Amino acid sequence: MRIAMIGSGYVGLVSGACLADFGHQVTCVDRDEERITLLQRGQMPIYEPGLGDLVSANVAAGRLTFTSALPAAVAEAEVVFIAVGTPSRRGDGHADLTYVYGAAREIAAALTGFTVVVTKSTVPVGTGGEIERIIREANPRADAVVVSNPEFLREGAAIDDFKRPDRILIGIEDERAREPMSEVYRPLYLNQAPLLFTSRRTAELAKYSANAYLAMKITFINEIADLCEAVGADVKDVARAIGLDNRIGSKFLHAGPGYGGSCFPKDARALVKTAQDHGAALRLMETTVAVNDQRKRTIARKVVAACGGAVRGKTIGLLGLTFKPNTDDMREASSLSVIQALQDAGARIQAYDPQGMEAARALVNDVTFCSGPYEAARDAAALVIVTEWNAFRALDFDELRSVMSEPVLVDLRNVYDPREVTRHGFRYTGVGRGTEGDGISLAAAE
Ligand SMILES: NC(=O)c1ccc[n+]([C@@H]2O[C@H](COP(=O)([O-])OP(=O)(O)OC[C@H]3O[C@@H](n4cnc5c(N)ncnc54)[C@H](O)[C@@H]3O)[C@@H](O)[C@H]2O)c1
Repeated sequence: MRIAMIGSGYVGLVSGACLADFGHQVTCVDRDEERITLLQRGQMPIYEPGLGDLVSANVAAGRLTFTSALPAAVAEAEVVFIAVGTPSRRGDGHADLTYVYGAAREIAAALTGFTVVVTKSTVPVGTGGEIERIIREANPRADAVVVSNPEFLREGAAIDDFKRPDRILIGIEDERAREPMSEVYRPLYLNQAPLLFTSRRTAELAKYSANAYLAMKITFINEIADLCEAVGADVKDVARAIGLDNRIGSKFLHAGPGYGGSCFPKDARALVKTAQDHGAALRLMETTVAVNDQRKRTIARKVVAACGGAVRGKTIGLLGLTFKPNTDDMREASSLSVIQALQDAGARIQAYDPQGMEAARALVNDVTFCSGPYEAARDAAALVIVTEWNAFRALDFDELRSVMSEPVLVDLRNVYDPREVTRHGFRYTGVGRGTEGDGISLAAAE
């Protein structure tokens, strides 16, 4: 099929490259000309494992092209995906649909022949209807149907998620969309990925419900972690004990510094807003949002406590800045709140991240960016693991100790076994590991 992908960011570029890999003819469009120029030169504007190879293979095969000229790409396409951003609107937390509606107007003017317009962006219930209205108003002669096909891929594992999804959700109002959408995803259907057809509004709401549920699950275990600290229990063991129950499942039960990223925070807020607007308030989600915001604001207190109650004038090393490993995405990353709080308390920050430092530079001030974990630890009164990149899972504690001013590790992702760390003479603080005490070594306590 001939496909136009409007928006070539984390979702659009991965989806476009994967659809080309299925054998479709894909044109990825972005209004950011610099991004398109990079892509045309074979360079990736984002970091996503495996993406560079996938893109170059499909460009070489003649199935994938890049352009900033939307009209030509849309005119030739049978299926047009909208994969532009839907950030939080300032002030009220509603999804900002400016980019979606802008894209819809541009698409409308360029439509020729019967076209399926597919919303892949995460949009509030009812947006599909509004896109349809915009298209009808802008181009009354257009023959288009509007479909909702929310995307569930995770950054860092995006290609695998797209090619081996748990399900493909397709919300339609017009039966004419069923066959072309089945054709788009036929290779996946052959791989037994369930193709779930629902109404358009149902698909739109299901996407938010999925993200909201996962955000709530993370927030739940974060609160249990706080209770673990209060009562002297270990949240990792609690999570394992409950996660082995099939009704609960072990995923998204990792206590940490609060969820961040480009989706959970904004989608949770947007769902809360939608529910309030419809008089069906989601109180669990309202609380989840508030608890997580508070957590991100206060998690740095752990670092201050680990440093004996004050960090003024001290150097703190941070490992990991992105909101999770294997991405360069810094949107709403917990590191941003940690840095701000520690700087407010008078600390000097030096940080290392394998992929996120370029994006981070634009978002923080007065941070020294380092070339590796040991440089970030140099002269530091504490080393803080903020993002659990694999590169931080086997640190040489003897070397760290030799370069740090104090042997203090604050492990906000519970990467390490406290016993192992304390054995090397470090004081250890994790999240929800009540049995570790206030930096008292477990080994010593035994
Ligand atoms: N990032 C994720 O992991 C993820 C996962 C699932 C769903 N989503 C959803 O997918 C959508 C896109 O997210 P993203 O992270 O890829 O965003 P992004 O910011 O990385 O990319 C959006 C791109 O769209 C481009 N754009 C905006 N308006 C345009 C227009 N009129 N014409 C052409 N290009 C235009 C922008 O220049 C940008 O490059 C959002 O709604 C998001 O919630 C994201």
